[in-house]
Order: sequence, then C-alpha cells, then structure tokens
Amino acid sequence: MRWWDVADVARLEADVFGPTAWSAELFWSELAAAGRAFWTARSATGELLGYAGAASAGADADVQTIATAPAARGRGLGDALLRACEEHAERLGATALLLEVEAGNAPAVRLYERHGFERLARRRDYYGPGADALVMRRRVEHDPIALEPGTGDPGAPAALIAPAAPIAPRAPGAPTA
Ligand SMILES: CC(C)(COP(=O)(O)OP(=O)(O)OC[C@H]1O[C@@H](n2cnc3c(N)ncnc32)[C@H](O)[C@@H]1OP(=O)(O)O)[C@@H](O)C(=O)NCCC(=O)NCCS
Repeated sequence: MRWWDVADVARLEADVFGPTAWSAELFWSELAAAGRAFWTARSATGELLGYAGAASAGADADVQTIATAPAARGRGLGDALLRACEEHAERLGATALLLEVEAGNAPAVRLYERHGFERLARRRDYYGPGADALVMRRRVEHDPIALEPGTGDPGAPAALIAPAAPIAPRAPGAPTA
C-alpha cells in the first residue's frame, strides 16, 4: 500500500467496517510509522479488492487490519494478504503474531485457524454488548540460517535481521483484525 492507495482503501474500509472504520488519516499515519507494512490487492483493471497491514515491534507482531471486498471473497485473497503479514513478522524478527477478532466473525476466525492461530484469550463485550473479542496468536517460524547475521544473504540490509522500533498503541475504537 502506498499513499496513492489510501483514498480507495478508506472507501473500502468504510464499506466493510462502517462506524468503526479507520479514517484515511489513520492509514496515512500507519504507513509512515516504523515497523509497519501494508499491502493492497487489485484486479487486472486496477480495482481495489483487499488490503491488510501488520506492525512488528521486537518479539511481537500484530495483524492490524485485513479485509477483502465482498464480491472478491472466497478466492484466496484473504489467505494471500494474511501470508504477507506473516512474512513481514518473520522478516522483522518477531517470534509471535497476534490479532484480535470478534468471536462471531466466523469467516475471519476460520481464516486465522487455517493459518495456525490459536485462541489465547476472550475479552467479554469488547466490541459492544454480546460481541466478545478473541485474542489469537501464532508462532512465527524462522529459518535460522536466514536470520543469522553474517550468513544467508550477505547483501541483506540490517533491517531484515534487527527488531523494529517500539510502536504506539492502537487508537481506541479502531478496528482490529
Ligand atoms: C475475513 C476475510 C478477510 C476473508 O477474506 P477472503 O478473501 O474471503 O479469504 P479467502 O478467500 O482466503 O478464504 C475464504 C474462504 O474461501 C475459501 N477459498 C479460498 N480460495 C478459494 C478458491 N479458489 N475456491 C473456492 N474457495 C476458496 C477458503 O477456503 C475459505 O473458506 P472457509 O471460509 O469456508 O474456510 C473477509 O471475509 C473479510 O474481509 N471480512 C470482513 C472484514 C473482516 O472481518 N476482517 C477481519 C477483521 S478481524
């Protein structure tokens, strides 16, 4: 995701998440923050079909948001976007990838469980009365050779092996993946 994607992303975000959607300004500030990586998926004609973002800081990384357009679901885009988040966490040296999801969001919970996320905690009424949040976590596997400084790709920049800088907490009320 680049700055020129933000207007399209904010429109799809509003369609998908309604009143709890991130604003365009929040996407702008996330794109500028350390340890973040965001992706978009577009059709061959340029239509925005989905996006996702992850933040990594030290041992923990978070899936911050993930969504696909309703008409584009069930084709593996969610799967590909989540894989991008997992690879980002691995590149920045995280050992765990976490996320929050509404317990009743069955398609999302199935996607996460398929990717090896396990239920870590349940936050009662987190999204409003009767809408609990699940905190889910997945281990991030590392190839020891690729992560060892001085081995693997000798041209790899330090950012690939160093942990990211700490990040600010998420804005209250913002959606989580
Ligand atoms: C959760 C979400 C991102 C999943 O996106 P998606 O693009 O539909 O994800 P996928 O296509 O990878 O997987 C969805 C289903 O399609 C199936 N599928 C994937 N590729 C397929 C294909 N080529 N043919 C048939 N089925 C396929 C998957 O097995 C999965 O099936 P399941 O739900 O029965 O387990 C999407 O539903 C969404 O945007 N929801 C609203 C926003 C949201 O809730 N975000 C998460 C907040 S925590």
